[in-house]
Amino acid sequence: MSDSQVRIAGGDTIRSLHADLPVNATFHIWLKATKPDVPGSLSFSNVRGKFGEVSVTNAEEYEFRIFHVFGGGSVELDYDTYQTSVSVAYWFALADVLETGITVLHTNPGNAPPNIPDSYHFRPPFGWMNDPNGFGRFGGRPHLFYQHYSHGLRWNTMHWGHAVSSDYLRWRHMPIFLFPSEDLTARPDKRGGAYSGSAVPLADGPGIRVFFTEQVQDRSPEQQIQLTATSSDLITAGNADVILPYRPLDEGLTTDFRDPYVFKGPDGRWKMLLGSQSDEGGVVLLYETHDHTAATGWTYIGKLLVEKHYRTTAIECPCLLPLDGPATDPATRWVLILGLMNSEDQSTRRKNLTMAIVGWFDGQTFAKEFEQELDFGTDNYAFQAFVDGDAIVGIGWLANWADTGPAIDFPTAMTLPRNIHLSAGELHTPPIGAAESLRSHILDRTRLAAGEQVSFINGAVEILFELERPGAHFRLKLQHPTVRLEVVVDDEGLAICHEDGGAAESPHYIAKGARPKRLRIFLDYGSIEVFADRGRWAGTKRISGFEPVQSARLIAETGAVLHATVWALKP
Ligand code: FRU
Repeated sequence: MSDSQVRIAGGDTIRSLHADLPVNATFHIWLKATKPDVPGSLSFSNVRGKFGEVSVTNAEEYEFRIFHVFGGGSVELDYDTYQTSVSVAYWFALADVLETGITVLHTNPGNAPPNIPDSYHFRPPFGWMNDPNGFGRFGGRPHLFYQHYSHGLRWNTMHWGHAVSSDYLRWRHMPIFLFPSEDLTARPDKRGGAYSGSAVPLADGPGIRVFFTEQVQDRSPEQQIQLTATSSDLITAGNADVILPYRPLDEGLTTDFRDPYVFKGPDGRWKMLLGSQSDEGGVVLLYETHDHTAATGWTYIGKLLVEKHYRTTAIECPCLLPLDGPATDPATRWVLILGLMNSEDQSTRRKNLTMAIVGWFDGQTFAKEFEQELDFGTDNYAFQAFVDGDAIVGIGWLANWADTGPAIDFPTAMTLPRNIHLSAGELHTPPIGAAESLRSHILDRTRLAAGEQVSFINGAVEILFELERPGAHFRLKLQHPTVRLEVVVDDEGLAICHEDGGAAESPHYIAKGARPKRLRIFLDYGSIEVFADRGRWAGTKRISGFEPVQSARLIAETGAVLHATVWALKP
């Protein structure tokens, strides 16, 4: 039987997507040929008939095509699934996409987002996501870029996804921002892409300059080099230029050389941190430039820090921020935040921890005062922050590489955005104030405090309670269909007990010695975030799947709970 006969026997293989367009719409479409010898294509038509087509010959990986439709109106996109597979199709109008977002017309079962409309954590509109990138306020609005692969729920060739918000909580999805080279996108073979980085406002005029690592696995001698690109419309990035083609010489570094974080130093010059690895441990490298545009002139200053904590191998996604005063004041303390790749706290089995180190930064060196874990739950990785007016705002990847695997789909979210500040000599990371705007209505103010079971109407819930004295013991039992989940304070400290019945014993997510008085707990489909004493302790844990927590019961000695409130949240 010939192929065409199979096709007729199989019935209708044509798929149509419909769009009602404003004038000057842009389509982004990723398609591939289902067979190596037959091109794949997708056609555009309106009432007057077919007026355009995009096509590909690649049968290994989805290829990106842009198509502009100038006239507006009702448009059909047709393709034959016999010879064409479409991964993603969305459209937008460049003139107002910052206000309206993209309109996603098509995803497929392999890259579709979960259907959880009540969920209030940021997730990509399709595909895989890891680190936050380029987090900042540009043109008046918070922008979030992120590590992204569009065509599946597993890590692969890295692009930068993009979203815009006005409050850090409700995001509009933007077109994909950074694309790796065509050589890398030709095959889904995980050889690299546009890795993590940061963004700063353009020096002369509106727009941003982004910095990122280009990873090409089989490139020698440098797998990882640093690139920069600009965008004046905040939507499309121009061509990227190499700014650091080599690691610093004679520093004993491995090929790890990534995640440029650019910020203004105390001397007014642009500085760049990079994460690396050496025999001595994980390394933070410092560069600077005298170029006020940050485009050129990047020179190596030295190793800002060598970190051996928890036997870390490499540092990932370092960031450095002035904490308790202006960057230019030598008395100002700074906080250096680091992902400790491959670290393991042997006593709790927690992996890939994130440290926050407080000290002084004079533009060249960092003098440590004290350090703290950023998040005892460890599902707040690759945390990135910037100074927004008079507050630091940061966000992390609500996951941990230790739980991922090449063979499992692993949909993830970002953490709630958090502020960072010093209070009585300790670092606090509470959720941003606007998180209160998620509150919809009170579910309970009496029963939880009285030790009764409180049922939730959906999976978006905030629980607050205050203890009669710091460190009073309690056990908050959270009923979940597949995971044993509790928040506990006992003599050891504050812990999230999480057992998902997996083969390996779950790590012990604990802030040792914590004796909190006030608890604020956010539950969402697939996550729990615990903030104690206004962010003095923060614990974030991903929960596998999207089942909601169904109810809570608070077990404590009589009189130990002063009051408790349960809110239903609404995105
Ligand atoms: C951290 C990280 C970065 C790298 C990116 C790749 O999660 O490993 O170091 O740039 O992810 O996606």
